[in-house]
Amino acid sequence: MLNAEISTRRDAAISRGVGMQTQVYVDRALGAEVWDVEGKRYIDFAAGIAVVNTGHCHPKVMEAVRRQTESFTHTCHQVLPYENYIRLAERLNEKVPGDFDKKTVFVTTGAEAVENAIKVARAATGRNAIIAFGGGFHGRTFMGMSLTGKVAPYKKGFGAMMPDVFHVPFPVDLHGVSTADALAGIEKLFKADLDPDRVAAIILEPVQGEGGFYPAPADLMRGLRKLCDAHGILLIADEVQTGFARTGHLFAMEGYDVAADITTMAKGLAGGLPLAALTGRAEVMDAAAPGGLGGTYGGNPLGIAAAHAVLDVIEEEDLCNRANELGSRLKQRLNAIRSRVPEMVDVRGPGFMIAAEFNTADGKAPNPEMTNAIRAEALSRGLVLLTCGVYGNVIRFLAPLTIPDAIFAEALDILEASIDAVKGA
Ligand SMILES: Cc1ncc(COP(=O)(O)O)c(C=O)c1O
Repeated sequence: MLNAEISTRRDAAISRGVGMQTQVYVDRALGAEVWDVEGKRYIDFAAGIAVVNTGHCHPKVMEAVRRQTESFTHTCHQVLPYENYIRLAERLNEKVPGDFDKKTVFVTTGAEAVENAIKVARAATGRNAIIAFGGGFHGRTFMGMSLTGKVAPYKKGFGAMMPDVFHVPFPVDLHGVSTADALAGIEKLFKADLDPDRVAAIILEPVQGEGGFYPAPADLMRGLRKLCDAHGILLIADEVQTGFARTGHLFAMEGYDVAADITTMAKGLAGGLPLAALTGRAEVMDAAAPGGLGGTYGGNPLGIAAAHAVLDVIEEEDLCNRANELGSRLKQRLNAIRSRVPEMVDVRGPGFMIAAEFNTADGKAPNPEMTNAIRAEALSRGLVLLTCGVYGNVIRFLAPLTIPDAIFAEALDILEASIDAVKGA
């Protein structure tokens, strides 16, 4: 089978609404490598969008799933429960940052975790309104896209968004927006549009993911915590993309000196199986009435078994430190390239949640053309990269944290050669 043939069938069979970054149809994957149906090998710096942090088909994760398939694959926890679901909740209640008693709910996708965090926040506060940030991404369900701070393609054509969702600017120094500007934006909102007593929650990603890999400054997080405490608002950390060792911590919020009341997670949690969760203050999580939360597949036994193995592997293989090590090597290499590529205006990110931003040569305007050209060039040379950013001018690097040194070095050489090829073109 050829990629092009499948691609033609795909165009005829699948809605174009499901966007595609490549036409590389996967045959198999292992660790940080993927082989397509034509036998071509790729180094994977996308990791299924920050999902397989422990690598494709990690033997311990595969073994845990295999063992689970031999016992049972689905009973629905709300009908016939199972102990490892409870044990995973206990592990997350312990590991999620925040020095208070916690409870957890399992669902299936990141967007669903966000939906449920908002439901819980509304039930706990008896309030409606939610504040989110420009450039933030929280999923493609109705509340997820309403909270998302980017119109095209996420909201375009989909009509009215959920009411009582307000966006404020996210601080990015590079774009001339400071933390003071962002906090002042909320204060202005409270004066002009929105009574703070109506606000149930403020939601943000500790590092904006789809929006461009912009870390939330420490003083923003502190300022939000203060505002929340002053007005009885809950703080929700959307750790769907930042979670599970990616940022050099199990959760990015460990890098801040304040805690969120509710944390959403998915992606890296179960090493490629669809599992998501929200963990929060016990009394907040108990605000919803029995039956108000959950779902047929939420906390599916295969995902739960995989997640236990993922947490074990992160600990056994010291993947938080490995993320820091890989990230600092990548940053060094990118900064060296940057000295001769003025279009690369920024290299940033904690742990191995690293991005490079590209502008026009005069530094003034976003350069999505060059960004996409580098992505395409790298792909043709066997390296899968992802772009992101409100202007599509950011390349994000998300290899599995288990990537061996030799493959990592090979990937960095391909990356450099691709940037040089595009620059020289
Ligand atoms: C921060 C964040 N929240 C929510 C989501 C939505 O997750 P899912 O695609 O699993 O619904 C994503 C997905 O990229 C995300 O990065």
